[in-house]
Amino acid sequence: MGYSIDILINGLKRLEYRGYDSAGLAVMNSKGVLNAYKETGRVANLEAKIADKDTTGSIGIAHTRWATHGVPNEVNAHPHTSQSGRLAIVHNGIIENYAVIKARLSKMGYIFKSETDTEVLVQLIEYYQKEQCDDLTEAVRLALKQVIGAYAIVVMDRDRADMLVVAKKSSPLVVGVGEDNKEFFIASDATPIVEYTRNMVYLNDGEIATVKIGENIKVATLDNKEVCHDVKHVEMNIGCLEKDEYEHFMIKEIYEQPQSIRECMRGRLLIDKKEIVLSAVRDYKEELLGAERFIVVSCGTSWHAGLIGKQLIETYCGIPVTVEYASEFRYRNPVINKGDVVIAVSQSGETADTLAAIQLAKERGAFVFGIVNSVGSSIARATDTGTYIHVGPEIGVASTKAFTGQVTVFVMLALALGREKGTISDEDYKAMVTELAVIPDKMEKAMKTDGIIKDLAKIYTYAHNFLYLGRGFNYPVALEGALKLKEISYIHAEGYPAAEMKHGPIALVDEKMPVVCIATHHKLYQKILSNIQEVKARNGKILAIVTEGDVDVKRVADYVIEVPQTINSLVPLLSVIPLQFLAYHVAVLKGLNVDRPRNLAKSVTVE
Ligand code: G6P
Repeated sequence: MGYSIDILINGLKRLEYRGYDSAGLAVMNSKGVLNAYKETGRVANLEAKIADKDTTGSIGIAHTRWATHGVPNEVNAHPHTSQSGRLAIVHNGIIENYAVIKARLSKMGYIFKSETDTEVLVQLIEYYQKEQCDDLTEAVRLALKQVIGAYAIVVMDRDRADMLVVAKKSSPLVVGVGEDNKEFFIASDATPIVEYTRNMVYLNDGEIATVKIGENIKVATLDNKEVCHDVKHVEMNIGCLEKDEYEHFMIKEIYEQPQSIRECMRGRLLIDKKEIVLSAVRDYKEELLGAERFIVVSCGTSWHAGLIGKQLIETYCGIPVTVEYASEFRYRNPVINKGDVVIAVSQSGETADTLAAIQLAKERGAFVFGIVNSVGSSIARATDTGTYIHVGPEIGVASTKAFTGQVTVFVMLALALGREKGTISDEDYKAMVTELAVIPDKMEKAMKTDGIIKDLAKIYTYAHNFLYLGRGFNYPVALEGALKLKEISYIHAEGYPAAEMKHGPIALVDEKMPVVCIATHHKLYQKILSNIQEVKARNGKILAIVTEGDVDVKRVADYVIEVPQTINSLVPLLSVIPLQFLAYHVAVLKGLNVDRPRNLAKSVTVE
């Protein structure tokens, strides 16, 4: 058995992309003493702190914290230890009834160092271990039965240095199994452990597992019913976890898009036959073709992809689609009729709100289709079927290649369904398939806008507000462009349907206001040209994204960026690229942390 410390630190670094404000770890030293070390800020700070410490034990736990209860400081960082120092815990999630439990334990003499809900849980486990049962798994089970909330936890016991106890409810958790059970690796997702093992066991909600060296994992429910899980083999391109020659993951991922879209379409777009084949549509024809309405549930960038999906499905399948923020949907009393199909869109597959929306939809009897990137993730497992976007791990917090992957899956889904339903003509179907096949090449051409935008970004670095305008398929692109800028450059930006501008945002336009107009060729071209004139008349500064060879917008706009010509419904796959570059370069020029913007997390596993 080797030392755990290097694996722990490496794992924390792999998970840095998720966003965090402090980091910590607990390890045994060579004398069998359990020590916890914590630091605010970067994992590198923690690494420096432990450099001269005795951390040579073969078992340990570590965590990056994104503050929910209590400010981000050293005391509130995980791991938390129990009163006697015997137990240590890391926890992802929220214990909602922690205050009541804390009050009860305080009365019994327990003293709390931090403001966190997590410390309450480890103290409760210690209480049960002392009072009722020395067995760690049993003590964890008894404690969890008292708990309301969400958790993925790993508990370590100083007196049992050959085992860890893990449990999960509504927060992600995976156990990697080393050869002959000689090693185990536990994490929130496969990313930090896939370099050690590709064999994974995914726990379900309400399960608790004992992970012991040399033994098979023992999994049971909180009611102590034994559960059997298959070990799943996970494929992941580890190259995606490295920046290579790029300065940031975001720019690497922007440039990866032509290739990631090819991967997304591989085996699905059959160019010789001019066919789209999606196994989910083949296997669940009845449920999907019988849909009277689709309800898309998602958050952030995935929600924007959903808005494009709505237009695609309505155009090619004639089925109405509503697009909902998962966080709103889950707490409304949404009307879900028999015949409604819910489409859950999520890059990470772990977004707590989207997961809860799926659960609600299932309780109400809806069939749920997933559009997910992360293979084996909670959302992928919770849905009835779906199509992975297969664009490889996305590390930059601002989503780029996942967005174009999601849009591509929506295109394929709309075409496959429309073909089966007979709502798309043979001619249009073939034209779409042929064009979709060359989209990656056209994306490569669109990458050439990088240089011009890098120059233009200098002009925009000092802007305080931005307006993004688009119509039709480019309206969600305007929203996405504005979101990208907000997320990483901290400049306020609003996306708007261009024609709606005159009902409010036009009041904001003056010579200081940069207005990004997505004005590619389509049937609303003349209309958006008029909208651009309206901005110009108020001295707004216009940056227009146009189709190659454009003449009219060029006469009016201050700056023009060209993207290749394509079919209108595929335009978002090209028009979003310059907007990704714009957000990236403005943020870089402002000296900001592009891959890990302040306050944001990549995977939002709390509601
Ligand atoms: C977070 C991320 C966004 C992402 C959103 C939805 O806010 O920072 O980039 O779009 O969550 O995440 P999901 O993984 O469900 O697509």
